[in-house]
Amino acid sequence: MVDGGKLREFFSEAPDDIALDDVDLARLPAHLSIIMDGNGRWAARRGLDRSQGHAAGVDSLRETITACVRLGIPVLSAYAFSTENWKRPEREVNLLMDLFARTLVAELPLFHQERVRLELWGDLGALPAKTHATFMRGLEETAGYDTMVLALAVNYGSRAELARAARLIARDVALGRLDPKTVDEAAVAERLYTADVPDPELLIRTSGELRLSNYLLWQIAYAELYVTDTLWPDFDRWELLRAIRAFQGRERRFGGVAGA
Ligand code: IPE
Ligand code: IPE
Ligand code: MG
Repeated sequence: MVDGGKLREFFSEAPDDIALDDVDLARLPAHLSIIMDGNGRWAARRGLDRSQGHAAGVDSLRETITACVRLGIPVLSAYAFSTENWKRPEREVNLLMDLFARTLVAELPLFHQERVRLELWGDLGALPAKTHATFMRGLEETAGYDTMVLALAVNYGSRAELARAARLIARDVALGRLDPKTVDEAAVAERLYTADVPDPELLIRTSGELRLSNYLLWQIAYAELYVTDTLWPDFDRWELLRAIRAFQGRERRFGGVAGA
């Protein structure tokens, strides 16, 4: 349940161009997803190490989680590490994996306080033991919560996810549990990491890049896309409201006819 008082308080002291009243609370996206990009550029512009950009990005994620809880958005997902991000220098990869573990431990009280359930999308088996163990703890401790789902895509790649779904279907067919003639869209969708959440309605990418970088290719078939030049560490509750306002101004057709 949305607490109106807390919501107003969280979105008080609005900047000139956007305020809480500019969004329709009855038409929020059921699933909002974010490609959190631009941490490295944010750090470089300040003469800092890339790792400091990632650390600053954690603050943006915390603010966004809280904002979505206050608004009553049921599902928030965020791309934290792609299957391609292993190509980065070993030092940066190690720092990120360490940051994930430390951040999850530090933020668990927030999950408990707001009753947020953690989901993790990706091949977690390939993560360092400490990061993996921390993630498992996060999943266990928050499994019963129902205020909001926070899904983090970690070692996630959409093509790997689809190949995995194909393997699972092939296995079920081989075991005689599945008739190939019945393999339809639902059969694929229920074998994706996202099986228990609705498709994203709004996908935000920060830092101005106009690409998907192997993120949720199946699930965003009809998502509205919003790209902002704002670098992820500069993203805040007001940027979130601007994105939602833009989303609510779109005409969604799903292949149909305008206004029908
Ligand atoms: C996003 O920021 C965080 C991750 C991909 C882990 P980047 O690290 O990609 O930042 P830029 O794109 O180099 O600025
Ligand atoms: C996408 O950002 C992955 C994440 C945000 C985790 P990248 O920075 O890796 O994407 P590219 O390399 O610019 O496509
Ligand atoms: Mg990037």
